[in-house]
Amino acid sequence: MSVMSNPAYGEVLSEGKAKTLYITDDPQRLILHFRDDTTAFDGAKRASLSGKGTLNNRFNAFIMRHLEQAGVPTHFERLLNNQDSLVHRLDMLAVEFVVRNIAAGSLCKRLGFESGLELRPPLQELFLKDDERGDPLIYDQHAIRLGLATQEQLHRGAELALRVNELLMPLMADAGMLLVDYKLEFGMDDGGELLLGDEFTPDGCRLWDTKSRESLDKDRFRQGLGGVVESYRIAAKRLGVEGVVAEE
Ligand code: TMP
Ligand code: ASP
Repeated sequence: MSVMSNPAYGEVLSEGKAKTLYITDDPQRLILHFRDDTTAFDGAKRASLSGKGTLNNRFNAFIMRHLEQAGVPTHFERLLNNQDSLVHRLDMLAVEFVVRNIAAGSLCKRLGFESGLELRPPLQELFLKDDERGDPLIYDQHAIRLGLATQEQLHRGAELALRVNELLMPLMADAGMLLVDYKLEFGMDDGGELLLGDEFTPDGCRLWDTKSRESLDKDRFRQGLGGVVESYRIAAKRLGVEGVVAEE
């Protein structure tokens, strides 16, 4: 398949809570479809938020390109249309790499950290990707003994997750936002390299307005604050994400 030709949509490979992966006529490429579906608390709270799929697809493309240009290997290839992107097929590790710059969310609930406390150097955590078990916090040793990842993969994932932080903290700061925390997922490509997969959108990170500390991310949905898509749009516009203004 030539790089520029449009891939043929094949069968659904997997359906997550907010995205669907389709196979294509190229065994090494998948179509990542961003739906409007939104969930929280491991799927216990659900809604469909009109426009979210398009915003997240564009937001993700913007961030992935930024990371790729700075040397972080990602699965992203190109935008196909409003809600779809072409990505490289990966064999995903069933763990989630979380990086925290400011205490929020489960860190406060689980361990009593004061919300808003600055964490320097950033705090890194590993979670098991398993909704039925409530995505528990795990040690590297658990992931290794469960056969989910090797020590080398976990080390490389953690290294890349920190590099992402070094790149995105200033990007967000320049756009008047604090990158509070985020979750990344990695997978192996056919050449045995670990690449950043999944997505980077306001669904999987916390972004606060620098001055007001107002949430511009999925916490608005989790906490029932309203204005979810509107907040994602504000964050995208501040970053200069292409195509967002025109779609309003
Ligand atoms: P937490 O405070 O709930 O542990 O979440 C930390 C960050 O990781 C937050 O930005 C949300 C993101 N995250 C997900 O996107 N999906 C998940 O399943 C988990 C556990 C966290
Ligand atoms: N992503 C998870 C869910 O949709 C956890 C969360 O974001 O709260 O349920």
